[in-house]
Amino acid sequence: MATKVYIVYYSTYGHVEKLAEEIKKGVASVEGVEAKLWQVPETLPDDVLSKMGAPPKSDVPFITPNELADADGILFGFPTRFGMMAAQFKAFLDATGGLWRTQQLAGKPAGLFYSTASQGGGQETTPLTAITQLVHHGMIFVPIGYTFGAGMFEMEKVKGGSPYGAGTLAGDGSRQPSELELELAFHQGKYFRRLCKEAQGN
Ligand SMILES: Cc1cc2nc3c(=O)[nH]c(=O)nc-3n(C[C@H](O)[C@H](O)[C@H](O)COP(=O)(O)O)c2cc1C
Repeated sequence: MATKVYIVYYSTYGHVEKLAEEIKKGVASVEGVEAKLWQVPETLPDDVLSKMGAPPKSDVPFITPNELADADGILFGFPTRFGMMAAQFKAFLDATGGLWRTQQLAGKPAGLFYSTASQGGGQETTPLTAITQLVHHGMIFVPIGYTFGAGMFEMEKVKGGSPYGAGTLAGDGSRQPSELELELAFHQGKYFRRLCKEAQGN
């Protein structure tokens, strides 16, 4: 049976979604793995989103908490809000109490990816503070470490991402994920897929 990797994210302006799409390509780059994109539900009313200048949501389906249990491994992605995950993602995780009670996610590998506006805005605190969610579910956190190689040591160009996972810098919203950030996202998907298959023993 194919290993199922779910890429579950929230994105207001599309930066996290772009990383998710690239991660999916990395996961699906080898046969025998099914990669699926999911978004978590919005919690803000339409008039607030419109004042924030948020574009309409994409066609990626919305996941319900219980569907997480169908995955063999899950990559979670979110933009930062004051150095930690956006409330929309936290609200989704707050609805996973049933899965937590039965520890249905325990032992499944989990990775993190994220977006911040600025360089000191939470590229490390956002994933670091998200680890508590994985721990309570008994999930196995899979950081990418420095497996990406030389790109991790880029000093000339601005670059999001860290050993915790892929990341991008949105700036005022007009900056899009760079080539290097997309390569890191692809790498994370590919690396995570390998770990999932190993955890499954195939
Ligand atoms: C209420 C609020 C708080 C934010 N806090 C931070 C922050 O602490 N650090 C930062 O770099 N960016 C912050 N941002 C910017 C978002 O992280 C940025 O819009 C996001 O990374 C873009 O990703 P997206 O296009 O996937 O929504 C904040 C944005 C909002 C609306």
